[in-house]
Amino acid sequence: MAQLRKISATEIEAMSPEQLEGEITRHNTLYWDSQEPEISDYDYDRLIERLRAVRPDSPLLGDFGAERFGADVAHSSPMLSLDKCYDDAQLMSWASKFEGDVAVTPKMDGVACAIRYDDSGRLAIAATRGNGTVGDDITRNVATIADVPNRIEGGPLEVRGEIYMKLSVFERYKDQFANPRNLAAGAIKQKDSEKSRAYGLSFAGYDLLGSDAKTEAEKFERIIALGFPEMERLIVNKDELTGGYRHFAEKRDSLDFEIDGVVFKANELSEHERLGATGHHPRYALAYKFQGDQGTTTLDAIEWSVARSGAITPVALIAPVTLSGAEVRRASLHNWGYLQKLGMTIGAKIVVTRRGGVIPHVEFVAEPGEEKIVPPKTCPSCGSDVTQVDDFLFCSHPLKCPDVQRGTIKHFCKVVDIQGFGDKLLAEAFDKQILVSVVDIYTLSAEKLLEIERVGDKTAENLLAQVDAHREIELATFLRALGIEDLGQQVSRVIADHFETLAAVRAATREQVAALSGFGDIMANNIVSGLTAEAEIIDALLEHVTLLEGAAAAAAAAAAAGEGAAGSALRGKSFVFTGKLESFDRKTAQKLVKERGGEAPAGVTKELSYLVVGDGKEDKKSSKQKKAEKYVAEGCELKIISESEFKQMLEQDDA
Ligand code: IVH
Repeated sequence: MAQLRKISATEIEAMSPEQLEGEITRHNTLYWDSQEPEISDYDYDRLIERLRAVRPDSPLLGDFGAERFGADVAHSSPMLSLDKCYDDAQLMSWASKFEGDVAVTPKMDGVACAIRYDDSGRLAIAATRGNGTVGDDITRNVATIADVPNRIEGGPLEVRGEIYMKLSVFERYKDQFANPRNLAAGAIKQKDSEKSRAYGLSFAGYDLLGSDAKTEAEKFERIIALGFPEMERLIVNKDELTGGYRHFAEKRDSLDFEIDGVVFKANELSEHERLGATGHHPRYALAYKFQGDQGTTTLDAIEWSVARSGAITPVALIAPVTLSGAEVRRASLHNWGYLQKLGMTIGAKIVVTRRGGVIPHVEFVAEPGEEKIVPPKTCPSCGSDVTQVDDFLFCSHPLKCPDVQRGTIKHFCKVVDIQGFGDKLLAEAFDKQILVSVVDIYTLSAEKLLEIERVGDKTAENLLAQVDAHREIELATFLRALGIEDLGQQVSRVIADHFETLAAVRAATREQVAALSGFGDIMANNIVSGLTAEAEIIDALLEHVTLLEGAAAAAAAAAAAGEGAAGSALRGKSFVFTGKLESFDRKTAQKLVKERGGEAPAGVTKELSYLVVGDGKEDKKSSKQKKAEKYVAEGCELKIISESEFKQMLEQDDA
């Protein structure tokens, strides 16, 4: 064979996608038709890798290396893919459909493979998944994988599992290849088995066909008895499902292979038969996919902050950790009960994610710390006693509590978009009794403002101009600005659209409010009693502001769409909704996105930021979700989040 030409990294990087496609096609012809390859398989793979990076949808990538590899193999039974879920609720709902325990394994990020042993126990055929019905014959290469026995006791049997590359092996190639999976896929299709062997691939078995095993647990034991390496698995009862997920999520960073989720399977094979499969995936198995970054860090301290509601909430102050490109130092722990349920201690090793890629969230404690966390006995803002109601701690004198009052004024300014009233200014104005209630905002004078340090004539003038520019307020904005529990952005919008005038809102009964879609009795109660409790403030505010109601409100909302959303995490992001939404109708959801400077296109594309899946129960997955999952699998940035996560995003945005 003629000397092979080497291609340098710079040469590859300089090629345009068209040039790459041209080169790859040329090398395919040289290799297959003329049988005179000009470059090594290794360099060929690097061209493929580069093409995958610069033009992931190139038709040449449809079947990686297939042009370089052998015959078709018909599978003994279809090799299906796994249905996916992204949160605990979906996992629980899946598990409610069958009886018995659940087998939990890591979802290996590699290449699926079926290995058949004949009746004398000899490795007869190994094949890739291909299209699920027919795969590529990779027998000779699989026979070189140290984890795969060439002969077993018994047979005929078929072992299915994942061919993967250990991270410690990938280390050598990481400059040339994007990830171990792509390299494993290329390495297992090398024409020369010795070259394939040199890549040092591994194999993990997760299924056994043709045995008389009655459970998944038994299958795993037999696979090991046949001579395959042990795959870590847990057999858990349904109450421990989330623990099973955590077990592997916690280990993710310390494993010598990449996993992209956790696989759950009904343990009893009789249940597999009963449940059957859809066209694409079995109903007895589910993959809980990891989304985005997760990081392990330590809890340094707890900061107790007093919210507008008077609730005293714990905030985790953590050792800085970079997640989805941003440094995270704090994460809300929501309430005292949640903190306790997590088993949180100072110094604990904790796993943190950014839910939906945005909100820092403490997932669980990986390793407890030394120091117990003691809840505060007095309010950190005003020193009043702390009272506990269920999981929550409250300041016992919220009306006198500076943090609560300042928080209320700050919230009003933020919602109405009155600018310039920062934390320091508000704190001093509160102490000097200049701003103690939201009504005071509208009776400010230059004289009063000048009492505040650092406020000069110019600042005072600007602040007064800001206030004057916001004396006309749209009804939904006004309702939200009051800071009443449950009157957040979406609820205020729904109420304003429904009742149209403030008078009608104030006259509404609990029953009328509860009847609105997505509202419950508790919410209706909070809203109606909140409006009654704030009656005096509302009346006082109406002396100074004009409300835009009905048609005027709609016009103002349309004009303001996207404005005042500068700080919103939704700005510039796109959201598509699918499935049955429980908290609002689709139009409202889209409006909420647009108000924050986001987009709400009709369909799923590769450029989409979020697909929001409704919390309502639905038998079938929508075509939008299937499409989005396909894009996620292809490496698109797109995130699939549940309706509850979307609501959390909105709440966080409001906070
Ligand atoms: S069980 C119906 N367990 O994930 C297939 N699969 O789409 C049942 N995978 O192609 C497979 N790790 O190759 C199972 N621990 C594991 C797995 C696993 C990786 C792959 C499998 C399949 C894909 C799912």
